[in-house]
Amino acid sequence: MSLYSKKEPQVYKLDALKSYSEDERKLIVEYLKIEKYYRYALREMNAIVENLDDFCENTFSHNPIHHIESRIKTPENIIEKINRRGYPMTIDSLKTNIYDVSGMRVICNYINDIYQIIALLSKQKDIKVRLKKDYIISPKPSGYRSVHIVFDISIYFGSEPIIIPVEIQFRTIAMDMWASLEHELRYKSNNEFTEYDKKCLKQYSDDLYEVDLNMQKIYIKKTTGDRDDD
Ligand code: GTP
Ligand code: MG
Repeated sequence: MSLYSKKEPQVYKLDALKSYSEDERKLIVEYLKIEKYYRYALREMNAIVENLDDFCENTFSHNPIHHIESRIKTPENIIEKINRRGYPMTIDSLKTNIYDVSGMRVICNYINDIYQIIALLSKQKDIKVRLKKDYIISPKPSGYRSVHIVFDISIYFGSEPIIIPVEIQFRTIAMDMWASLEHELRYKSNNEFTEYDKKCLKQYSDDLYEVDLNMQKIYIKKTTGDRDDD
């Protein structure tokens, strides 16, 4: 049973709590009191990224961002992650150990766009990079490519800021296509790919990366006025 009522997503179904342990229930109740801060942080980060896209359009006549997706991690998924990682089942542990309660995906047109947006974001004084994993430079063995960055953003309701982490996954349209389908296939095959399928999926990711590089080359050629060499 889902913890949220479908009709009223913010209304919490207490009946659903019965399947959780005492510590998990306590954590869910405590988390729901502060969930709003994760939503506020996500909204602010969305605005920052959208404004940067707008700035790039006005300054360079180019929108680096194709689209943005965002979500707040459900209490079910928070409990699952804390259990999987073996962290203490407390609200302090959630605040210290879980950085992706507020999560965004920024899908860019070209690889260079990803690094341009990251460079602009890293210069902003109101957000700080807490953690960065570049799976484009070092792809995962599965073939997964993206840059994951956790930014700390300050939100104010009084004199003291509340600092909330927001995780952003940056990827190209091609990387997003691969990750979405691979995720779906992984789910359908109960997390168990055959060695052959693993090899193919890794190969398709490398093929798509080459397409990304080649499309970018054409884009650079068109926008810098270079002559065609063919
Ligand atoms: P989590 O506990 O899963 O959040 O792990 P993590 O944050 O330590 O690891 P990581 O940096 O790998 O980020 C995990 C997230 O990246 C997942 O929730 C997926 O969105 C994405 N991801 C990582 N590896 C893969 C992969 O092999 N395939 C797909 N489709 N997505 C992946
Ligand atoms: Mg994560």
